[in-house]
Amino acid sequence: MSHIRGRFQKAADELAVKYTSSLPFDWRLYPYDIRGSIAHVRMLAKQGIISQEEAEVITDGLASIREELEQGKFEFKLELEDIHMAIEARLGELVGEVAGKLHTARSRNDQVALDMRLFVKEAISETLASLRQFQQALISLAEENKSVVIPGYTHLQPAQPVLLAHHLLAYFEMFQRDVERFCDCLKRTDVMPLGSGALAGVTYNVDREFLAGELGFSQISPNSIDAVSDRDFVIEYGAAASLCMMHLSRLAEEIILWSGAEFSFIELDEAYATGSSLMPQKKNPDVAEVARGKTGRVYGNLLSLLVTMKALPLSYNRDMQEDKDGLFDTIDTLLSTLGVFTGMVKTIKVKVENTERAASQGYLLATDLADYLVRKGGTFRNAHGIVARLVSYAVEKDKSFGELSLSEFKSFSPLFGEDVKSVTVASSIAARDVIGGTAPRQVEKALAAAKKMVRPDFKRVNKKSGCS
Ligand code: ARG
Repeated sequence: MSHIRGRFQKAADELAVKYTSSLPFDWRLYPYDIRGSIAHVRMLAKQGIISQEEAEVITDGLASIREELEQGKFEFKLELEDIHMAIEARLGELVGEVAGKLHTARSRNDQVALDMRLFVKEAISETLASLRQFQQALISLAEENKSVVIPGYTHLQPAQPVLLAHHLLAYFEMFQRDVERFCDCLKRTDVMPLGSGALAGVTYNVDREFLAGELGFSQISPNSIDAVSDRDFVIEYGAAASLCMMHLSRLAEEIILWSGAEFSFIELDEAYATGSSLMPQKKNPDVAEVARGKTGRVYGNLLSLLVTMKALPLSYNRDMQEDKDGLFDTIDTLLSTLGVFTGMVKTIKVKVENTERAASQGYLLATDLADYLVRKGGTFRNAHGIVARLVSYAVEKDKSFGELSLSEFKSFSPLFGEDVKSVTVASSIAARDVIGGTAPRQVEKALAAAKKMVRPDFKRVNKKSGCS
């Protein structure tokens, strides 16, 4: 760019230009860059810093550049360093000399900070909408299978029977925390940096409140040095996205396990499964596997920016343009994963014969037998020991609890009576009638609460994002 090389005699080295250009990735900021520039120009005119006519010429020019970009007619020239320079240069070609007034009272440092904030705000809105849809898919799978029982696991060992709906609502809770985290991140992203200039503020009588209003920000950055050097909001988005991907990867892992022959709890819809090029019998859970894999790159993007920002002196440093690629990749990865998971989860078929069989095997009622003895007057520790011995006896005899006779029970404790037969999978689940427990009554309430939470009119203070 000739005007930013004003003090130099030499042209820039070709490799150096290519190396430092952010245009190959930051072109994605163009809708925000143009929105920001139009608001800036309106403000300049309102304040009498440029004339109304000049503002109109510039605004019209910017609007036609937006059209060129949208229609793929814009010519990207690598030597233009970044999207901000590319748009300004094109404006010069379109409207001539007056284009030079656009950058009055502005630096690329506060400009790029603005673009990034607008971009992340939009990304948060989209992420929240996708999260809501995905939560709805979890709810509908839970509702369709309201009475299905599965073994609940700890250490991946069968532990106690639980309702599948309860298990699915555990995921609902995780994604609800993600919703809250993205809403929280929005608060610190929703800050308008224009007016900070290169770092120290600008010398013109700008109206920052007006800019914030035009661009839909609820706050104005209180310190110009911080405003041009802060990328916390990008890191926060990356951290919230990492947690969300972690949750998706845990679900992915269970989908992989559960759709496999050993568990065989669920059948994936063919639309979300892949065949093997070699083994004709295979139906692979590739979508879930790819999501499990992609989680790593989202963590990587987070760490990469944390390291980029580490020990950077104030204020803006060019290192910071490395914030973009990773952010874009994180957003694309998270949104596509949420989207494909919504469809995959909605179409899962539960193999009830298998879940039922699994839930009635493996001494899952051992805790309930101990609780039975406690109700008959034993202490829990004692009861635990008795049932442990009962389990090892049953294992040795290769019998389930149901196959043991009353006298076999009684040989372990006189407290066992005829009513021990009423300890069943259904009674075990119904007994956990505590807030947050797996009893059908509680799960019904939790489902109703979850459904209310994903209703679009819930917490509708900030209409677009759904955050309060
Ligand atoms: N491409 C730059 C970035 O993404 C824009 C800001 C450049 N500012 C500067 N003083 N060179 O960070």
